[in-house]
Amino acid sequence: MKKVAIFASGSGSNAENIARYFNDNEHLNIECIYSNKPDAYVIERAKKLGIDTMVFDREMFYHSNKVLDDLRQREVDIVILAGFLWLIPGYLIRNFKIVNIHPALLPKYGGKGMYGNRVHKAVVDNGEKYSGITIHYVNEKYDEGKIIFQAKCEILPDDSPEDVAKKVHKLEYEHFPKVIEQLVLNS
Ligand code: GAR
Repeated sequence: MKKVAIFASGSGSNAENIARYFNDNEHLNIECIYSNKPDAYVIERAKKLGIDTMVFDREMFYHSNKVLDDLRQREVDIVILAGFLWLIPGYLIRNFKIVNIHPALLPKYGGKGMYGNRVHKAVVDNGEKYSGITIHYVNEKYDEGKIIFQAKCEILPDDSPEDVAKKVHKLEYEHFPKVIEQLVLNS
């Protein structure tokens, strides 16, 4: 059984979608959902799904071994970032395979501060004809790790950032679990 950890900072609709996709899977289990925000909706989703949670603050994440110890104790094979907004520290990168989803076509519209609706607003403001999703490995810089998978959606002239967000979320729900499945089960 391969063990997956999910890190999320917000609503957690991707985390839930991934957990539901792998519900009852014989080869892959979602071990725990980690969050930097105690009041993030993802925590409630995890509870409803019966998945363990761990919440940490900056001190714990950047200056202690608590998260690393927990991941090791659970024998996690891969860490998935699903809307997790803090930079991943080197000690985690050195110890785990870590994969992020970004709501745009990297290398455009990435980097510090580019998350959620800010990304979609920048895409619309620049009159882009396409946006999409990028699934990539995580290194010590925001959104710069090796790209694993991309999918595109068309942006119509009247689309608002919220319209783009809907199209991008649809792509995320469709592809992210399948890409995780391939990465985990083929490794
Ligand atoms: C997702 O669209 C994800 O791509 C994005 O945050 C959203 C989380 O939504 N991630 C980033 O912007 C990372 N830079 P969710 O909490 O509903 O899954």
